[in-house]
Amino acid sequence: MSDAKLQSVLSSLSQFARKLNCLASSPAPDASCVKLNTNENPFALPPLVRASAVAALERQYLYPEDDNIGLREAAGHAYGLSRDQVIAGNGSSELLGLIYRAFLTPGDAVAMMSPGFSFNRKLAVLQGAQFLEIGWGEAHSLPLEQLLFGPAKDAKFILLANPNNPTGTFVPIAEIERLLAQSDRLIVLDEAYVDFAPDDALRLIDRYSNLLLLRTFSKSYAVAGIRIGLGFGHPEVIGRLRNIQNVFNMNVIGHAVGISILAHRSAYDENHKHVKHERQRVSVALSQLGFSVTPSHANFLLAHVPAGRDGIWWQASLEQKKILVAVFPDRGLEYCIRVSIGTKAQMDAFLAAVSDILGAERSGKSALKPH
Ligand SMILES: Cc1ncc(COP(=O)(O)O)c(C=O)c1O
Repeated sequence: MSDAKLQSVLSSLSQFARKLNCLASSPAPDASCVKLNTNENPFALPPLVRASAVAALERQYLYPEDDNIGLREAAGHAYGLSRDQVIAGNGSSELLGLIYRAFLTPGDAVAMMSPGFSFNRKLAVLQGAQFLEIGWGEAHSLPLEQLLFGPAKDAKFILLANPNNPTGTFVPIAEIERLLAQSDRLIVLDEAYVDFAPDDALRLIDRYSNLLLLRTFSKSYAVAGIRIGLGFGHPEVIGRLRNIQNVFNMNVIGHAVGISILAHRSAYDENHKHVKHERQRVSVALSQLGFSVTPSHANFLLAHVPAGRDGIWWQASLEQKKILVAVFPDRGLEYCIRVSIGTKAQMDAFLAAVSDILGAERSGKSALKPH
């Protein structure tokens, strides 16, 4: 295509996508890396769940079931809802995308508690919407006044994750219920990490038609690579999302594994117990090493690094030792790292690397220069 033709084609298209950088695409790290940067759950599947994935391969030549009916029914059964109150997605990020597309038109505003899950900003920009970031209140509480009467009052929906990513903090469900009761806006409550938390908001679904709850099986059920997400809400809200959903959005393995996980959730009890135990152990160890750790209710820790270096320096130093962690310098967290909770061996490797780095710093042998 000639350059002039290309320019003419590009300028005739919506310009929203042009404003976005591609999602950061990092190549798969080599297998020797300890991957603690994206909050996966690095454990094998329970044998029955694994068997369901293998059995689904027999149906590889068939299209998956239309409208995810079996999975939605199984989820309804497991969580005490009707099938019409459930939508199933290729990961909960697909469901987030549907929410922005279904409920926003260019020029609308959407509000998210911040710092929060940054993927939301991208979805808002893509929709030509204004993205309002509302700071957490004291001790990571919900700033009700601001959400009801401040800049967020005209937002089409308010989004918050509980527990929150990247802080790991948890808002008591009573606070969320106050927001639901007093607001006439849709509240999108992302419970991606809820299986590591003390409580959840499922019981509010039948009471508040303005609640849209999202779950993912990526974190607590160890299937980030299979892509299973669920959304729960009023049938009218769920129906609008299903109306715009891609046909055959999931695959036969996702359906089979999702249904099997729902039938065998207790098989993950040990997994969740392990994560909570390691979270506590690593939190104490990091504190003893001079980090300040935000109390977490998720499968990761946000840690403020010791004075003298920033998060990016720590990320690079750890990467040299083949340990991957996440940083968020653009969200006012430039002195923090976020580390996922993995196996005991992975966490031991992480803590040993941190100790080594601190030791090298103290003896002036650090390989990296401060920026
Ligand atoms: C708060 C939050 N919501 C949603 C997701 C997306 O999860 P999924 O793998 O289901 O797309 C993530 C993933 O990191 C997350 O942190």
